[in-house]
Amino acid sequence: MLHATYPSLAGQRVIITGGGTGIGVAIVEAFARQGAHVTFLDIAEEASRALEARLADLPQRPVFRYCDLTDLAGLAATFAEIEATFGAADILINNAANDDRHQIENVTPAYWDERIAVNLRHQYFCAQAVAPAMRAKKRGVILNLGSISWHLAQANLSIYMTAKAGIEGLTRGLARDLGVDGIRVNCIIPGAVRTPRQERLWHTPQAEAVILQGQCLQLRVEPEDVAALALFLASDNAAKCAGREYYVDAGWYGA
Ligand SMILES: NC(=O)c1ccc[n+]([C@@H]2O[C@H](COP(=O)([O-])OP(=O)(O)OC[C@H]3O[C@@H](n4cnc5c(N)ncnc54)[C@H](O)[C@@H]3O)[C@@H](O)[C@H]2O)c1
Repeated sequence: MLHATYPSLAGQRVIITGGGTGIGVAIVEAFARQGAHVTFLDIAEEASRALEARLADLPQRPVFRYCDLTDLAGLAATFAEIEATFGAADILINNAANDDRHQIENVTPAYWDERIAVNLRHQYFCAQAVAPAMRAKKRGVILNLGSISWHLAQANLSIYMTAKAGIEGLTRGLARDLGVDGIRVNCIIPGAVRTPRQERLWHTPQAEAVILQGQCLQLRVEPEDVAALALFLASDNAAKCAGREYYVDAGWYGA
């Protein structure tokens, strides 16, 4: 996929969470190819190292940092180290998540907390970590990845959907509190994106048909489509976009 070039992204310092697999890979590559300096965080060490190696020849090669985002002390230490090493972030993309399914009767308080920690909590604390330097510069962009799932009321995903609904509220709250200092916070809502993980989970003709029947467009959404929206929203071309949700879902309203 050929992305538009956004001159305002060249040289920007970008932190992308969950960049090692799935949609994150496309976002890492898309920003790196704009000439942005990308640091990506993940627990998927092997895949992340492979991505680093694949993009090592780019003029601005992306850098991987291992970080379990559910460990808030580790998260804070990682962000401090990145800022000390590379300078303050201009753009944060809160992308990491985990959409494991669950049955209501099996959910324990500990499992609830773990699901919220992996799908919601870190978005707040990553934003908190980059906010002081962005405030000082009077500019910055934070993009939070939400999900179409709760808009469609999907099955066996209630805690993930609670977290993803919360991310839209979080986006508006942060956009209000940080917007006065020129920081733009928005939410990207992907539809059914054809990632390796989703292909492993749902790659049957029946599942494919359900997705296409539910969408306005008879095209599958690819990770690069999500990256294209992230590039636009992070660029100065989106200078007046704040506190909103932007869908990239081929018009998925459900069957
Ligand atoms: N793929 C889809 O169809 C789809 C649909 C709607 C929303 N989304 C959202 O888009 C974003 C990316 O989704 P994806 O499909 O690429 O997911 P994915 O599961 O393929 O990749 C998520 C990445 O986050 C990382 N991660 C998970 N837990 C982590 C932790 N504790 N610390 C650090 N990294 C961690 C994983 O290792 C992985 O590399 C997510 O926020 C997801 O909720 C995806």
